[in-house]
Amino acid sequence: MPEKFKLGHYQLFFLFFADLKCYRAEIMPIITEFIDDDGLKCNDAGGWTEEKYRLIGSYFKQFSTGTKKAWPHRAFIDLYAGAGYTRLRTNGKILKGSPMLALSVNDPFDQYVFCEEDRDSFEALESRARRDHPKLNVRCIRGDCNQKVDEIIRALPRRNSLGLCFVDPYNLSIQFETLIKLAGRRLDLLCLLALHMDANRAYDVYINQESSKVDRFLGSDRWKAEFVDSGRPRQEFPRFLAGYFARRMQTLGFEETPTHSMHLVRSDDKNIPLYHLALFSRHQRAYEFWDHARAASTDQRTLKLGE
Ligand SMILES: C[S@@+](CC[C@H](N)C(=O)[O-])C[C@H]1O[C@@H](n2cnc3c(N)ncnc32)[C@H](O)[C@@H]1O
Repeated sequence: MPEKFKLGHYQLFFLFFADLKCYRAEIMPIITEFIDDDGLKCNDAGGWTEEKYRLIGSYFKQFSTGTKKAWPHRAFIDLYAGAGYTRLRTNGKILKGSPMLALSVNDPFDQYVFCEEDRDSFEALESRARRDHPKLNVRCIRGDCNQKVDEIIRALPRRNSLGLCFVDPYNLSIQFETLIKLAGRRLDLLCLLALHMDANRAYDVYINQESSKVDRFLGSDRWKAEFVDSGRPRQEFPRFLAGYFARRMQTLGFEETPTHSMHLVRSDDKNIPLYHLALFSRHQRAYEFWDHARAASTDQRTLKLGE
């Protein structure tokens, strides 16, 4: 290639941020666009949920478009799908929830599998998916995702299929056994680790009393001795669990996910840590999408890129 056409680090850096600026201006308003109340049930959430939707919405878009040519079948799975719409407690406005964001991507997935336990949320989600995306292939399964996991897996295409599975519980209810089964298929997992919301508040119960919830979340009971023996202070408990969980995911063949690559979401009023969003993939490309989604969804005031 002639020297004049080669891009130096500076130009690449410039192009990346020019692309990012353009992406922010065009895509982000669509992801977090407020929508009209349709009278069906909505999930309730704090104002910080907008940040979650910017990040996951951006990731879903990049994943679905970036994998379209290489994979004949792409599946999207949402284990804790919710009602499809979410009402923010701060201002009463309504946003598309994770399943509706995944259905709205420019290059839709070939198969969608949504699991939701609550009956009203399940019915609202089914109605919205059918009403707004009648041509897409959507399967809604009602029940506890830990119990329904075999049915969820059976709903996925068998061959030449790549999946993206979103795991978004309110607490530490996802069981490692469930993730082992899912990891038997070719898929990436985007997990919300409710470590600060649940683990921090429930520290005394998990550490001092008989509770098997963390054992089931981590698929092991060895974490307790490791934490207690290390003499770490209580405030390090969530970070310890995040690291432990990432190590357990590595045993399933996923790339190493250091805690600093997890995206920490804080409450908007008191700036208190709430949860981490963590990607687990077997492909380096997925982490490139993730980095881009993180950069694109981060508040411009935080990045101070300048206009
Ligand atoms: C945080 S909300 C999910 C919101 C949705 N993912 C979104 O971002 O728009 C968690 C949802 O999981 C449902 N849920 C709770 N436990 C569940 C379980 N074991 N299996 C499936 N769904 C469950 C709840 O009813 C609730 O609607």
